[in-house]
Amino acid sequence: MDEDVFKRAERFAESVFEGDSSGHDIYHTLRVHSLARSICAEEGGDEGTVRLAALLHDVDDPKLFGGEGYPNARRFMEGEELGRDTVERVVGIISQISFRGSGAAVPDSLEGKIVQDADRMDAIGAIGIARAFAYGGSRGRPMHVPGEPPREGMTEAEYRSSQGTTVNHFHEKLLKLKDLMNTGTARRMAEARHRYMAGFLEELMDEWDGKRRSPGRPVSVVRLEQKYYEYRR
Ligand code: ADP
Ligand code: NI
Repeated sequence: MDEDVFKRAERFAESVFEGDSSGHDIYHTLRVHSLARSICAEEGGDEGTVRLAALLHDVDDPKLFGGEGYPNARRFMEGEELGRDTVERVVGIISQISFRGSGAAVPDSLEGKIVQDADRMDAIGAIGIARAFAYGGSRGRPMHVPGEPPREGMTEAEYRSSQGTTVNHFHEKLLKLKDLMNTGTARRMAEARHRYMAGFLEELMDEWDGKRRSPGRPVSVVRLEQKYYEYRR
């Protein structure tokens, strides 16, 4: 595939996301594209398919656009005259990668696994924290409500309509993502982001409780993990 196709896919995604403040701006797409390329370089798979699926993975997001059948992705690829096989392969990947409640599907192709890993990678770490609060804010959700526990085993409908707090979103989804990575490359990349996120939550809870910590106190990973599991019980 010609490099120009990816450039045009970038511009197409940019035009689709114009004005979005829910964490689906073009920069999310660009980060997923870049992460997917890095993972693909280690894991193999068809790079063109990975790149196109990454660039188009959210252009038909049901939360933003409604509708079925991936019309935006199809319209772009048909305009590029990419051929039926490519269109169906990429649409197939896009349809498989979203996290749906507790029943996360594993994509059946290596390319799909890579793009799903890249999309999940962008939901954790410092970026993940920022996106979660941006998204929660855009839906009018409280950051945290003491005593309101995270919910387990939500169906897709419950997950989508959840009015839960953003802190609970970390426990319901984001802290689980590192273990859901499909590829070894992504699992390794996810470790540091996971630790950072868990450290952030610990800090947040301490500040919430009015505790003071000395600035820059080193974070003990073991302690964080313990704290996370304590909280979960
Ligand atoms: P994507 O489409 O990129 O796979 P989602 O559409 O599920 O991911 O979510 C987009 C971003 O918004 C992610 O960073 C996700 O963590 C965040 N998000 C989704 N649902 C919630 C929620 N209930 N509270 C806070 N953040 C959320
Ligand atoms: Ni995404």
